[in-house]
Amino acid sequence: MERNLALEVLHVTEAAAMACARIMGLGDEHLAYHKAMEAMKKALDAVRMDGRIMLGEGEKGETPELFNGQRIGTGDLPQVDIALDPLEGTTICATGGPNSISIIAIGEKGCFLPCPDGYMEKIAVGPKARGAIDLNLSPQQNLSNIADALGCYLEDLTVVILDRPRHASLIREVRETGARIKLIGDGDVSAAIAPSIEGSGVEVLMGIGGAKEGILAAAALQCTRGDIQGRLLPREQELTRGSASSILTIQQMVRKENVMFVATGITDGDILKGVRFYSGGATTYSLVMQSRSRTLRFIETRHG
Ligand code: FBP
Repeated sequence: MERNLALEVLHVTEAAAMACARIMGLGDEHLAYHKAMEAMKKALDAVRMDGRIMLGEGEKGETPELFNGQRIGTGDLPQVDIALDPLEGTTICATGGPNSISIIAIGEKGCFLPCPDGYMEKIAVGPKARGAIDLNLSPQQNLSNIADALGCYLEDLTVVILDRPRHASLIREVRETGARIKLIGDGDVSAAIAPSIEGSGVEVLMGIGGAKEGILAAAALQCTRGDIQGRLLPREQELTRGSASSILTIQQMVRKENVMFVATGITDGDILKGVRFYSGGATTYSLVMQSRSRTLRFIETRHG
């Protein structure tokens, strides 16, 4: 992993984003998803690496491509593990809503915690609040510790929460603290990264979302030096906070120091603009991060 592979896979998330952004708002989630998946697979095949998909689009047989365990790339060194989501926020893309992105995370072998197809209770913050979160504590205690770390009042915090019935008690508890809330329809990877980005206007993500999305967010936050904790909730388990499963730290979710994270905006969002099409081409907006070099690049690419 001496090369900056992240810059080489940038065109992969760009290709996936452009493929599905073309049909943004047409209401066809299935088509949008397949367009993104096909474009990502095709572009990944050309990347000079011996990649193994650890967190893909499902098990072999459940999905035609990008399944867990699939080898990807040209087969040349380096050997890397990959976590990906060609279209995070399928419904968002189909409705033209905010914050759908295409994502790839790359790490050394054994980097990503293999996790079941299920959910994860999460709390995520940016670098200034690293170490100030603990899923064993109440929302009130966490928000108070985060506000102390950020040197602000609790009422200054904005907490992002997925708008789901399962979050009724969380929303009530956060409201009681006086913190502000931003309810989102989908897209909690973008929401977990946002507190690490200056000017995003949010400081915390809380609540239960996808497990794979939690690991992808952990990869991004390893690069930004933000923080995330999670608790796995298998699909068959009732989606309640504070389950018996043990807390996962960011180091347990992303188990190697050196990780790369690339995301391209599909629709406009808090951290990235969506794809712009015009006569003869398109412009994409991406985030490319590498933990080892501590680099965070915002890249605007004109295609065609
Ligand atoms: P998809 O891209 O698979 O549609 O996921 C969107 C998403 O909102 C994720 O960001 C989030 O982690 C998960 O769904 C929440 O799951 P659910 O919609 O079942 O509450």
